Amino acid sequence: MQDDIDRVLFDEAEILRGIDRVAAEVVAAYEGKEFTVVSVLKGSCVFASDLIRRLPIPLELAFVAASSYGDRTEGGDVKVNFFPAEKEIAGRSLLLVDDILDTGRTLHCLKNELLSRGAASVGTCVFLDKPSRRSVEFEADFRCFEVENLFVVGYGLDFAGRYRNLPYVGALRSEVYERELQAAERSGS
Ligand code: IMP
Ligand code: MG
Repeated sequence: MQDDIDRVLFDEAEILRGIDRVAAEVVAAYEGKEFTVVSVLKGSCVFASDLIRRLPIPLELAFVAASSYGDRTEGGDVKVNFFPAEKEIAGRSLLLVDDILDTGRTLHCLKNELLSRGAASVGTCVFLDKPSRRSVEFEADFRCFEVENLFVVGYGLDFAGRYRNLPYVGALRSEVYERELQAAERSGS
């Protein structure tokens, strides 16, 4: 797995420093308010679990599952696989937490869906932000790090379902995804 990584962008110590900084911003914004952290599965599970343990204020936790269509490095249509129960959304202040803000389609779609299901407000917090890739106008309220236009894996982020368990964020070697795309084309998927 390590051999597929071209270079490490953020190591464990740097990640935790970034989360500490964002956690302080979230606490300043939500202290004294009732709110729910909504972790976007699967990618944000690692980030969300580190983040919430650095928020020493009352909060609830919920999950939403979304996927961009397919295993490719280019996002397709957003598919929402499940929502929190209605009572976890209606009238609540939500903080959507995701691994990476890329084209912006996932968070744009989820924010609108949650508001239309009655959320009182929907803030957004992302571990990584790739502003150069945006295809819809969308900015996160909180973000840990900006990244250049590279495909990154680790710390929850996957390629074709793998690498989420790497404790750091690394750039995937281009040969790895080219190999995978060729295999997918050969199998006709
Ligand atoms: P969106 O393009 O902003 O909708 O991002 C959708 C999803 O694409 C993210 O939640 C990630 O799961 C995935 N994604 C985007 N860029 C990367 C990347 O560099 N590595 C791994 N996953 C990514
Ligand atoms: Mg993903």
